[in-house]
Amino acid sequence: MSRGAGPGPDSDTADEAVRSTCDDASICKRFAVSCGYWKDPYIQYFVRQAKERKAPEINRGYYARVQGVNLLLNAFLRKTECNCQIINLGAGLDTTFWRLKDENLLPKKYFEVDFPAIVARKLYNIKSKPPLSKPIMETHSGDSLLLDAHSLDSARYSIIGADLRNLKDMEENLKKMSMDPQLPTLLVAECVLVYMTPEKSASLLQWATNMFSTAMFINYEQVNMMDRFGQIMVENLQRRQCNLAGVDACQSLQTQTERFLSSGWDSADAWNMMKVYSSLPQEDVMRIEKLEFLDEKELLEQLLLHYCISRATKDSLGLGLAGIMF
Ligand SMILES: C[S@@+](CC[C@H](N)C(=O)[O-])C[C@H]1O[C@@H](n2cnc3c(N)ncnc32)[C@H](O)[C@@H]1O
Repeated sequence: MSRGAGPGPDSDTADEAVRSTCDDASICKRFAVSCGYWKDPYIQYFVRQAKERKAPEINRGYYARVQGVNLLLNAFLRKTECNCQIINLGAGLDTTFWRLKDENLLPKKYFEVDFPAIVARKLYNIKSKPPLSKPIMETHSGDSLLLDAHSLDSARYSIIGADLRNLKDMEENLKKMSMDPQLPTLLVAECVLVYMTPEKSASLLQWATNMFSTAMFINYEQVNMMDRFGQIMVENLQRRQCNLAGVDACQSLQTQTERFLSSGWDSADAWNMMKVYSSLPQEDVMRIEKLEFLDEKELLEQLLLHYCISRATKDSLGLGLAGIMF
């Protein structure tokens, strides 16, 4: 059954709707940050504060998402002693580069890829706001830094405007900016693959295993989308012209792991966000649970059951990447 495909908006409108999800994610993150769920002093420079409050279950969902991805990302950096590169696919207005710099955890190079229109907005903010540009200058050395309307290339941080469905163009750009296929590489896709057809996302996953011999992939996105709650999520997005073209890969934790294994990855695991939430450091979970009264406990559970984190590895150097857990 294919519910992601079928008649839908034309491709420009569809891509525009996908791009708009970048604001949704960042506005929700900024709101949760403003409530004290986690610290991010940089997100305020990218998006305005939400006009309306977000519901507590949404804030807790974002908390689990951000903490879950960060735990795996930090574990990869520790395993490789930062002698690695990170490629954030569909990064949107993500602020991880600045967090890692502040925590003295920067990889050799941090890359981001998103549509050129999103990258242009991100770069405009970086150029015009010193709290964003200064850390990039501080980590730069060597040749002159490239920062134009459509790309950034500095010693430790590059941002590329490209379509993840056009692998040739993306690879060319990454290589131009010194991506090193020999380095252990972490690829991150946070709520991104679901907007691409399963064929296109499979090509991306395959490209990554062909390119890197030691790599880990962290994927955060929807799961259990075939039940009633999942259908309502799909319909809500479709109402905003946003087609979840990749929803067929989001049927279960098993479909989420199989997509990696059939694309050439050696190991793959997936956890729903209920499991992730209960694996996070419980002292901090207790702290955030006191921030806001949660009326709709069941709704939070439903939400957490409909998102997951999957982690795939290919480990030629024998670093023990498959052992990385929450
Ligand atoms: C829901 S947002 C998530 C942004 C960021 N990963 C986060 O979690 O804050 C999805 C992002 O994926 C990007 N994206 C989706 N499909 C893409 C494609 N084919 N090429 C480039 N970027 C894409 C969108 O532009 C958007 O920034």
